[in-house]
Amino acid sequence: MVSQYEEFTNKIKKMTGIDLSLYKEGQMKRRLTSLYEKRGYKSFQEYYLAIKNSHEVLIEFLDRMTINVSEFYRNYKRWEVLETKILPSLLSSTRKLKIWSAACSTGEEPYTIAMVLSKFMPLSQINILATDIDENVIARAKLGIYPERSLSEVPAEMKDKYFTREQIGFYKISDEIKRTVTFKKHNLLADRFDSEFDLIICRNVLIYFTEEAKVMLYDKFSKALKKNGVFFVGSTEQIFNPIKYNFETLDTFFYKRV
Ligand SMILES: C[S@@+](CC[C@H](N)C(=O)[O-])C[C@H]1O[C@@H](n2cnc3c(N)ncnc32)[C@H](O)[C@@H]1O
Repeated sequence: MVSQYEEFTNKIKKMTGIDLSLYKEGQMKRRLTSLYEKRGYKSFQEYYLAIKNSHEVLIEFLDRMTINVSEFYRNYKRWEVLETKILPSLLSSTRKLKIWSAACSTGEEPYTIAMVLSKFMPLSQINILATDIDENVIARAKLGIYPERSLSEVPAEMKDKYFTREQIGFYKISDEIKRTVTFKKHNLLADRFDSEFDLIICRNVLIYFTEEAKVMLYDKFSKALKKNGVFFVGSTEQIFNPIKYNFETLDTFFYKRV
């Protein structure tokens, strides 16, 4: 028998193209249940009808089904490895890198890549693709205003160079950093991947997906990279059998496409 949740995911997929069945069920169910209960609905059935009939409920659903937390230089040590080991090796064979920050949320990650790369080349030569499924976070990334807490790991020299204080407790990222990033809406679980990337960064989103979805994505990320291109994942997201996807471990959380 098809459960109420399954019925809900099937209908949502038809309506929005988003396949909730590829997200871990327990987690997603809990998040959506607390969301609809807050609005006074009693079941997934009722919630689906509300989403269908109200643009506001639909927008709230799209906004909350994902978790958008991010920060600059998240897990600082990993960015040091990128700077001291990975980038020098990538730049030894080409000066122009094709880079993708997948599931970039509010932009801290692609802007961090730009700051790290600025140590190697002028900002005018940097072009990073940054994508997310959620249009609201993309709009916030383009705005580029951040609360102080998301800057806690930013090195002082970068903070002085690329941020200005806005109102109390908020900072704005500089236009020259902003210009290095092109933001686009993209659903990792449904949309086509571009190819020939030198570096793909996809962190802190794979944890929300089922094993089956992860397997599909590792394969697609691997194929989207050039030979010797690098895949950088989040700090709880090691790949258990990298060679299955033509990956070789370069360092913890960094994989090279062989
Ligand atoms: C926790 S944030 C990670 C942000 C950043 N990568 C980091 O590590 O700080 C997860 C992001 O994944 C996005 N996301 C969730 N499902 C997605 C999908 N199917 N396709 C693309 N992005 C997705 C969410 O909108 C959210 O912005």
